[in-house]
Amino acid sequence: MGSGVKIMEPCNLYGCSLGDNVFVGPFVEIQSGVNIGANTRVQSHSFICELVNIGESCFIAHGVMFINDIFDSGGPAYGDKSLWKNTSIGNNVSIGSNATILPVSICDGVVIGAGSVVTKDITKKGIYAGNPARMIREL
Ligand SMILES: CC(C)(COP(=O)(O)OP(=O)(O)OC[C@H]1O[C@@H](n2cnc3c(N)ncnc32)[C@H](O)[C@@H]1OP(=O)(O)O)[C@@H](O)C(=O)NCCC(=O)NCCS
Repeated sequence: MGSGVKIMEPCNLYGCSLGDNVFVGPFVEIQSGVNIGANTRVQSHSFICELVNIGESCFIAHGVMFINDIFDSGGPAYGDKSLWKNTSIGNNVSIGSNATILPVSICDGVVIGAGSVVTKDITKKGIYAGNPARMIREL
């Protein structure tokens, strides 16, 4: 943990790395190997699984779900990590409440609407929403 980190208990955080001034709201789980950059806020009830990296100054709203096992082989990987996939979130990314983020890369400066399901990489700054998430406006 960096300096100035605030964690609102109860939380389930293990083996992860939190940069300076990160805020973690209550009822959040952050799994092993996750890195969260400085000044990022993770609001209550979000789940950040292994193989996720989140940049600096991001806002992860309430109940955001990350996924590393996409049931590629017809069902859950049941801990076979060779089947898990990575997610990379850039800097200054805001993810709305209840969004689901499949294993993708999202570039800097993106906004994801509430309740969206992000199924593909996002490489251009803008506002994306819906299921599957599509750009609704450039920024
Ligand atoms: C996506 C968002 C940023 C708005 O962006 P915007 O550019 O102002 O969009 P608008 O409100 O002008 O809506 C544009 C279109 O997108 C649709 N839309 C807006 N938000 C949407 C969402 N979350 N999911 C699906 N569609 C959405 C609108 O219905 C509208 O559709 P239409 O053109 O068919 O009428 C906002 O709606 C949102 O979801 N913010 C997340 C807020 C949040 O979760 N905050 C957490 C606080 S703790």
